[in-house]
Amino acid sequence: MKGVVLAGGLGTRLSPLTKITNKHLLPIYNKPMIFYPIETLVSAGIEEILVVTGGRNAGDFLRLLANGKEFGLKHLNYTYQEGEGGIADALSLAEHFADGDRVCVILGDNLIEGTIRQAVEDFRKQPKGAKILLKEVHDAERFGVAELEGERILGIEEKPSKPKSNYAVTGIYLYDETVFEKVRTLVPSRRGELEITDVNNAYIREGTMTFAHLSGWWTDAGTFESLLRAANLVAQSQAKQ
Ligand code: DAU
Repeated sequence: MKGVVLAGGLGTRLSPLTKITNKHLLPIYNKPMIFYPIETLVSAGIEEILVVTGGRNAGDFLRLLANGKEFGLKHLNYTYQEGEGGIADALSLAEHFADGDRVCVILGDNLIEGTIRQAVEDFRKQPKGAKILLKEVHDAERFGVAELEGERILGIEEKPSKPKSNYAVTGIYLYDETVFEKVRTLVPSRRGELEITDVNNAYIREGTMTFAHLSGWWTDAGTFESLLRAANLVAQSQAKQ
């Protein structure tokens, strides 16, 4: 299985912090944001990784991450997303890299306390389809929200004003090789983006989507509040160790 870190987009919600640099290069406590999702993939045993960058500071990723040696990698792959066409648009750039393999996709602004090793192992055994990780939250309207019926997932709504559950869809997605076909069928949403939620709903309609609950804390870091929360959570975790 290959890993894909999505770090495109313009990060406008964090302006003026993102006026002169890319959101994923901003500090979260003692490391740049992009380090955390890369470490999440590496600690799950994923060694072939593609970073999708974008915006005006893409060259800085190369200077910062180089060939991935700091993460124990032999090599790191990069590509560039033009514009801000959405998460699924950024993912579509990984097709050549995936080369028919399965992918574990993580959003460049998602941080977790624990590991995704078990989910990755379980997905390796899953004959086909996709797997997502859910986390119970108090502000579900900020996220993709899963509608559940026991062990079944019925659908996902992107940032609903009245969420059908408290289960946010985290930005960690496991996909089989059909994901790129599914992305090709998408049309831009009202916010003008190709939505990852539409990809996930395609798997749900097909009956091949599974889910697991993520243990430990999870946060994004794309708003001022969540950027601060992420730094505090990392600092607390490190103090505990
Ligand atoms: O954090 C989890 C949430 O992420 C999910 O619950 C939502 O379903 C999903 O749509 C997404 O929501 P956001 O609105 O928070 O996504 P955002 O636009 O902030 O983008 C998150 C990351 O995705 C960003 O840090 C980099 C990557 N991205 C995003 C866009 C729009 C790209 O690589 N290219 C893009 O064009």
